[in-house]
Amino acid sequence: MRFDTIVQGGKVVTPRGTSVTDIGIAGEKIAAIEKDLEVGAGTRVVDAKGHYVIPGVLDVHVHLELPFMGAVSADDYRTGTRAGARGGVTTLIDFAIPYAGDSLNDAADKWMKRAEGKAMIDYTFHICITRYNEHKDQIKGMVDRGFSTFKEFMIYESEGWQSDDRALFGTLEKMKEYGTMLLVHAESSRVLDELISRHHTPELMKQYGARLHRMTRPNFIESEAIQRVITWSEVTGGQLYIVHMSTAQGTDLVKAAQARGVPVLAETCAQYLVLDDTMFDRDDGHLYACCPQIKTPKDQERLWKGLKDGEVSVVSTDTCTFTREQKAMWNGDWTKIPMGLPGLETLLPVTYTHGVLGGRISLEEMTMKLSTNPAKIMGLYPRKGAIEVGADADLAVIHPDKKMKVDCDTMETNADWSPYQGWDLAGFSRTTISRGDVIVDNYRVVGEEGRGKWLPRTKAGLQ
Ligand code: URP
Ligand code: ZN
Ligand code: ZN
Repeated sequence: MRFDTIVQGGKVVTPRGTSVTDIGIAGEKIAAIEKDLEVGAGTRVVDAKGHYVIPGVLDVHVHLELPFMGAVSADDYRTGTRAGARGGVTTLIDFAIPYAGDSLNDAADKWMKRAEGKAMIDYTFHICITRYNEHKDQIKGMVDRGFSTFKEFMIYESEGWQSDDRALFGTLEKMKEYGTMLLVHAESSRVLDELISRHHTPELMKQYGARLHRMTRPNFIESEAIQRVITWSEVTGGQLYIVHMSTAQGTDLVKAAQARGVPVLAETCAQYLVLDDTMFDRDDGHLYACCPQIKTPKDQERLWKGLKDGEVSVVSTDTCTFTREQKAMWNGDWTKIPMGLPGLETLLPVTYTHGVLGGRISLEEMTMKLSTNPAKIMGLYPRKGAIEVGADADLAVIHPDKKMKVDCDTMETNADWSPYQGWDLAGFSRTTISRGDVIVDNYRVVGEEGRGKWLPRTKAGLQ
């Protein structure tokens, strides 16, 4: 058999184990996984000896070019997908959000336009339901168009995005009917509003600054909302996926619900695993405001345990990049900080360094949380997330221990800061391959912009 590319002699990692072998690529697909594949005339050889070869990472929680809190997030499909490629990410899922008057189709069209001609890696969207009365009868049409995951926010009334219990309940009923899945941002809006308004005084803002972000979002703001929406999943049977889970209490609730047979899954994000809320004590603490906010070392340990034990299925980033200038809009009022962090470029390095090298999860478990599970849960497996014959040739080649210092000045993201600035991280992708094309070579992005494709889907969840 003739191969276009052979990835030679790497330690190939799958959830089943790690072994030294070659991977033969023909066109966009993996065509053979065997030792000593024959190199033909014109075959490109990617030397992976002494490196791990993992399935390309799926970051299933990303916001590129998102209009949010009076700003537009600073990574678009050009810089965001370049950043992803450098971090070994070969698929991303963004959120198509309908603004005033938009149908679900309009939202999908708008996000398609943002991606087309710019994306270097493959992509699709979760479709956000922001006005249930208007959108509920459009859901089936979106399923027929190739979208299998939907999203509702339990907060963000001022953005016009908030869903109430009626919407959550009704949408979960539809998810059950169509075999699709609802992603939920779970925070308790009314109590959060109350805590914010109690603290929103010139005196307290002067005294506490960005610390008010953590002071007004105690853990029960997340866990109460998770508990409530789990109830709606339990009674409707609709598949539920808790996005960016950040608390120990939320993790306990998900574990207990799963044990009862509730169809609920959960993701956490890299920042909740390695950053804690003492960051708000820094002079530039406002930069670290994301939603939900970073929590405590106790929460971090519980989330790591959830990854190990299984109740946390996915690590993503919730990439929503804002520059220093955009973050400066807060001007001392924490409620005006555009919330979000850059993350696509550092997802794999942070998880590998602090998870695998930190002894918290195995290499195979990392591969499961970054590639296999997100692909399965989001309806993209085995095309994505698998090193198997017939799968898309999406691969990341990483050195086992070579560390690089994070420096926002040399990164692909548009962010002019990094939550991990100065950290020594292993796991940056030396070579990233997307559908057979080498898009990162020797740690440098070399892929063609606009080559990324939209990925239609027909299913979701671990059903
Ligand atoms: O801080 C964040 N996460 N910004 C994006 C919006 C969201 O809630 O995911
Ligand atoms: Zn959210
Ligand atoms: Zn998000």
